[in-house]
Amino acid sequence: MGNNAPSGGREHWSGQLGFVLAAAGSAIGLGNIWKFPYITGENGGGAFVLIYLACILLIGLPVMLCEIILGRHTQKNPVGAFKALAPKSSLTAHLFSIMMLISGIALICFDAYGWGIIFLLTSFMIFKYGWVIPGIMSVFAGFIILSYYSVVGGWTITYFCSSISGSLSFQNSAEAAAFFDTLKVNPLTCSVFHIAFMVITCLIIYSGVRKGIERWSRILMPALFIILMALILRGITLPGALDGVDFFLRPDFSKIKPQSVLTALGHAFFTLSLGMGAIITYGSYVSKNENLFKASLSIVGLDTLAAIMAGLAIFPVAYAVKINPECGPGLVFQTLPLVFAKVPLGSFWCAVFFLLLFIAALTSAMSLLEVVVSFSMDELKWTRHFATIVCGGSITLLGCFSAVSVSNWKNIEWLHSMLVDIFNTSQSSFFDFMDNLGANWLLPLAGLFIALFTGWIWGTKKAVDEMRNGSQNFADVNFFSFLAGLKDDPGHNSRVHVLTLASLWGIFVRFIAPAAILIAFLHTAGWIKY
Ligand code: PFF
Repeated sequence: MGNNAPSGGREHWSGQLGFVLAAAGSAIGLGNIWKFPYITGENGGGAFVLIYLACILLIGLPVMLCEIILGRHTQKNPVGAFKALAPKSSLTAHLFSIMMLISGIALICFDAYGWGIIFLLTSFMIFKYGWVIPGIMSVFAGFIILSYYSVVGGWTITYFCSSISGSLSFQNSAEAAAFFDTLKVNPLTCSVFHIAFMVITCLIIYSGVRKGIERWSRILMPALFIILMALILRGITLPGALDGVDFFLRPDFSKIKPQSVLTALGHAFFTLSLGMGAIITYGSYVSKNENLFKASLSIVGLDTLAAIMAGLAIFPVAYAVKINPECGPGLVFQTLPLVFAKVPLGSFWCAVFFLLLFIAALTSAMSLLEVVVSFSMDELKWTRHFATIVCGGSITLLGCFSAVSVSNWKNIEWLHSMLVDIFNTSQSSFFDFMDNLGANWLLPLAGLFIALFTGWIWGTKKAVDEMRNGSQNFADVNFFSFLAGLKDDPGHNSRVHVLTLASLWGIFVRFIAPAAILIAFLHTAGWIKY
């Protein structure tokens, strides 16, 4: 399959499996194993899992298809993809640009110079680049997110090494918390392990699509599922563990708050690596004879399976040693070592767990770096090796600011006062500032524009034509025939059916996904409140 690469010499996955494993590697990350269990704990368990599954299926899956289609159709990085498809001049973009211009002037009149200048610059960019902006945002988001994601990636290495050396055998939660807090405020350790994590990521990306990303995904993804399985078996055989399974899987809707729905939606986006160009980039290495429907279902399915398995690995052990599952972000780093300390052969299982976390973080980081590298290769005409060194190097450098300021600004007070002067708002650390910028602003906005662009500007018609390549009659199969198992029955695959998978997808991309993302975004930005 990779042999029929189109002219232009773009590398391709060796086949559907290579693509699915690499994209699942991008999707399955710290979001699944670190974040999903604790937000489920905070939002009441089983009922939240159901809402999350609905968001994945109704919003995540359609947007994932959009990104893969944009990538495969154009065979380009996110910026190149939007450049190739965006109209030369767009009234919507011009109107938007004028709105930003007026807001920018108003902000300057009210003395908010920092924001005012940012609005003016954005207005100018929108005027100049129009619908290429979502692509630029995606690449920028990849850059920003990787810079702090790799700091957390570095912690997984620290914890893995510490568990091997036996220094994670805590007696109580105060000791576990003290270890985590000392790590966070130690700029040297954080930076060294962040750099180590980035070097490993760069080495893989340096080797290219097939020899680097695909080869390592083929090794690391099965390893990840085997480790998860082993952890589940260890966990559920502990006395009292089944209460944890019960908490995780039994829906109790009385614990659901309106915010839970928005949290589920935001997380669905993050966990599927959407809005950041990663899937557009990976999609650009897919050849024309692959079935995109099946591929996206498999990626979403594997990601969801990993999240559910992570929950089944974590809650039973937490319950077995009577730890509150609602303890928040520290669940994985502070609680699990404590949990394992009480389990036979604890240090071994602890090391296995942090190895799992490291693998998950690494395969996701690979995709983030690949977004920036493929942009530099396509648009700036750099070689892969040069692009990896320059992009990897600058992301590592930026990440060092997050590494030395994970929980406060102590080491970079000058940067803090500069940011306060410009934005007039303050985050508790540079790490949080980057997280807020990337995950709460750039990611949902880019995701929203990707859905709007595919649904309304480029058009679902052309997107569906692309989807049809390699998918036999999949796109045009009547939805009910599909559910009834009659997909290949000659009487059930005529194109006159109205409710086909493609038409369902179009409706979701044009209306439901943009509306849902917009509401979630406005809520996170604090512009609407429940
Ligand atoms: N999906 C990853 C996770 O769940 O941890 C995070 C991520 C990776 C987001 C790559 C976006 C991306 F492009």
